[in-house]
Amino acid sequence: MQKLVSKVTDSLNFYMDNSPIDLVEKYGSPLYVYNEKILRDRMREVKNLLDYPKFYVNYSAKANSNLAILQIAKQENMHVDAMSPGEIYSELMAGFSPEEIFYISNNVSKEEMLYAIEKGVTISVDSISQLEQLGKINKGSNVAIRFNGGIGAGHHEKVITCGENTKFGVNPEDIPLVKEVLKKYDLNLVGINQHIGSLFMEPDKYILGVRAILEIAKNFKDLDFIDLGGGFGIPYHKLEDEKRLDLKSLGKELDAILKEFVLEYGKEIKIKVEPGRYIVAESGVLLGTVHAVKNNGKEKYVGTDIGFNVLARPVMYDSHHDIELYRKSDEKSKIEEEVTVVGNICETGDIIAKGRVLPKIKEEDIIAILDTGAYGQVMSSNYNNRLRPAEVLIRENGEVVLIRERDNLEDIVRKFISLGE
Ligand code: LLP
Repeated sequence: MQKLVSKVTDSLNFYMDNSPIDLVEKYGSPLYVYNEKILRDRMREVKNLLDYPKFYVNYSAKANSNLAILQIAKQENMHVDAMSPGEIYSELMAGFSPEEIFYISNNVSKEEMLYAIEKGVTISVDSISQLEQLGKINKGSNVAIRFNGGIGAGHHEKVITCGENTKFGVNPEDIPLVKEVLKKYDLNLVGINQHIGSLFMEPDKYILGVRAILEIAKNFKDLDFIDLGGGFGIPYHKLEDEKRLDLKSLGKELDAILKEFVLEYGKEIKIKVEPGRYIVAESGVLLGTVHAVKNNGKEKYVGTDIGFNVLARPVMYDSHHDIELYRKSDEKSKIEEEVTVVGNICETGDIIAKGRVLPKIKEEDIIAILDTGAYGQVMSSNYNNRLRPAEVLIRENGEVVLIRERDNLEDIVRKFISLGE
C-alpha cells in the first residue's frame, strides 16, 4: 500500500497495525473507523478540565450515539445528555442509570415528556409553554430550565444556539414568569443550563456565556446544578497545523470564576459541561473509494462513494475536513492537482471538498475524511435509497471490531407498506 497523504493519522498511530485498504476490503466502502484510545484520551482530558470538586461531564450523545461509543463513555464514568427518547433509549441500553441522563428537550410532545418521566430522567425545558406542559402532566416534579444568556458562538449560524436569532432557551427577562409557573405547578427547579453553540476555538465567548448563566443562577437560591453546555472546538485544519483549543487555560479560568461564584451563591453546587464534538470527532475517520476522475468545464472532479447521505457536514455548513489518500498499487503520483471531491448522490451540491490540492488521484484510490467521529454517521441518511455505512472500532490492543453493520437492501424497504397488486 502507498500512503500518498497520511501525516495526521500517522502522527496519531490511528490505524495501529491495520491498513485502511484492508479495512475497506473487509468491511466495505464507505466505512466509519474509530480509534478507542483517542476516544478515551479525549474523555479523560475533558474529565480533568476543572479542579472544581463537584464537576461532571455529560457526553453530548447527539455527536455520536453508537452503542459502543456510549458504552465507552459509561466506562469512563461520564454522564450523558439526550435530545430525544431515542437517545434516552440507547443510553439506558448502554448502561447509564436514569440519574446519569439529562434530557435537554426542545419543543416536545407530552408523550415524549412522559417517556422521560417514566424512565426517571431529569427533563430540561426551554420555553414557558413547555414548562406549563410539564407542570400539567407531572405536578410537583423536578425540572431544569435552559436559559438563553444572550451570548452565542459557533462555526456556522445554523449551530449558534444562544443570543439572538435562535429558537433555544428562555429569555432571562421571563424569570418572574418562570417563578410563577414553577409555583403554580409546585415544580422544583433543580438545575439551569445553556449551550452557546457548537465549535468555539477561543475561550472568550464561552467564558462570557458562563458568566451570563451564573448571573441567571443567582435568581434561584437552591439549585442542585448548573450545566454550562458544550461547544468545545477541534482543529479541522490539521494539515495546516491549526492550533488546538487551549483547554488547560480555559479550565483555569473557569475554576477561578466558579470559586468566586460559590462564595457568593453560598453552596458548592454541581457544575456540568456537555461536549460532544471535542470528545468524539477526532477519534473517527471516514474511508471511501474513488470510482471516477474527470474534467467538467474548468473543474477536475474526483467521484467517490461518500455522498452527503454519508457525511452531511460539508454540504450543510460548508465544513472543512482534511483529506488523506491511499493507493493499493505502486503507481506513483508525480504531480499535485486542484480537485473537487464529490459523492454519488443525484445533486450538484453533493460536494465533500472544493479546490483541494491533492496528489493526482486515480480510480480505486482510498480517500480518508478526517475528524468525522462527531456528526458523521449520526447525520447520515438513506437518501437516494443508499445504504448507510458500517462502523468499526480499533480497540486499544489494535483489534478491529464491527460496531454497526452496513445497511442492506432489505433495510431500505423494511418500513414500506405495499399497496398490493
Ligand atoms: N448540548 C446541547 C444542548 C447542544 O445543543 C449541543 C449541540 C451540545 C451540547 C454539543 O455540542 P458540541 O460540544 O458537540 O459542539 N451538526 C453540527 C453541530 C450541531 C450541534 C448542536 N448542538 C455540526 O456538525 O457541526
